[in-house]
Amino acid sequence: MKILVIGSGGREHCLAWKISQSSLVDKIYCAPGNGGTTLCAQNVSIAATDIDGLLRFASDKKIDLTVVGPEDPLVGGIVDKFQDNNLKIFGPNKKVSMLEGSKVFAKEAMRKYGVPTADFKVFDNAQNAKEYITTKSVPLVVKADGLAAGKGVIVCQSQQQALSAIDQIMTQKEFGAAGERIVVEDFLEGEEASILVFTDGQTIVPLVSSQDHKRIFDGDKGPNTGGMGAYAYAPVVSGSIFKEIIDKIFTPLIQGFKRDGLIYKGILYGGIMIKEGQPYVLEFNVRFGDPETQVVLPKLRSDLVSVMLKTVNGDLNNCQLEWDSRVCLGVVVASGGYPGKYEKGKEISGLDKVTELEDVFVFHAGTERKTRDEGRETIMVTSGGRVLSVAALGDTVSDAQDKAYKSIEKISFEGMYYRKDIGYRAIERRQ
Ligand code: AMP
Ligand code: GLY
Repeated sequence: MKILVIGSGGREHCLAWKISQSSLVDKIYCAPGNGGTTLCAQNVSIAATDIDGLLRFASDKKIDLTVVGPEDPLVGGIVDKFQDNNLKIFGPNKKVSMLEGSKVFAKEAMRKYGVPTADFKVFDNAQNAKEYITTKSVPLVVKADGLAAGKGVIVCQSQQQALSAIDQIMTQKEFGAAGERIVVEDFLEGEEASILVFTDGQTIVPLVSSQDHKRIFDGDKGPNTGGMGAYAYAPVVSGSIFKEIIDKIFTPLIQGFKRDGLIYKGILYGGIMIKEGQPYVLEFNVRFGDPETQVVLPKLRSDLVSVMLKTVNGDLNNCQLEWDSRVCLGVVVASGGYPGKYEKGKEISGLDKVTELEDVFVFHAGTERKTRDEGRETIMVTSGGRVLSVAALGDTVSDAQDKAYKSIEKISFEGMYYRKDIGYRAIERRQ
């Protein structure tokens, strides 16, 4: 089979790497890919948002299966377009991708199908939203409706901050049309976990639980990022909570959609808050998580392409996934200054020393492969904020953590930054 992976992050490198292990696969393309994807796929310089360009490429090359990494093309309707052209593609269609594309759609679907989530109200007018705020206690969460590259959620500790958040989104239009409507929702206190499931619109096949670390500094301090590290599984999701998440969240949503004639096929990601032992949905994403994928897929023993085909073909019943029972922990290595301004083009050294290690996986995000000395030497340079994700398998969270950090010590580039405490919640829980 010929596979096309769309995207350019650590998630996509990990997807391409796992896909390359499938006996069903002869050739992998990645559009646009990164330095790391050149190690297991052929990069094609088409942007992930260029749906027409991707369609032309997939038709020309007779791609057997396209796998979509990021949300933008899904929300933009890439799946519907490929299907109209008889091309197989893994991911949800445009209608159900609104679960991520519109917070209003997601919250209303949750209310309709009885999925536990924070209480909320929707506004399309700043004045009405502000009047509502004055009747509420804090903290409160103000969310822009549309896609805002992960920046459209503002957790407000005071009414004043909530009023400013409304101005920022609705008056100054910081997120453009994504802020024409907002959701104001109650704050939920608890511990977060990520649950990803495969679904063909009927059957739900869960992946192992994981936990992201969104803030830039140790101890979950500082501004939010795309994610600074993760581990799988997440002990906060005990067996009974895991079952509740499937029974009370994913099943009613997928079945409710089905009753309404909406068939969700692909990966569905629930960002879950566990509060006093009860799970609530913070958000749905219609794609694999990043950096969760980089710690979940190294644990997967089953053939990923086979599961994806079953998902697309509506054939997930009787699908059993096999997992490595060890813990996988991954640390994101970033450019100094991220998530603010940072420099690019720094040469990365030591990668070859890590590739040799057993049960250690380096997934590239913001890297570019370059040649020098008239093509005789290949090097990797930084090209983004999050540069690498270094993951390791271990018998315990501490073992995996130890292995991941020891591996990172072999890598260096100017300004390199990473959190030193990935996995701390799981380790505290054990102690
Ligand atoms: P979202 O994109 O909706 O998941 O929001 C991004 C982050 O904001 C989440 O991962 C949480 O850390 C935080 N957040 C969102 N909604 C809430 C809520 N209702 N209560 C507490 N924290 C929240
Ligand atoms: N790890 C958060 C996300 O993928 O949205």
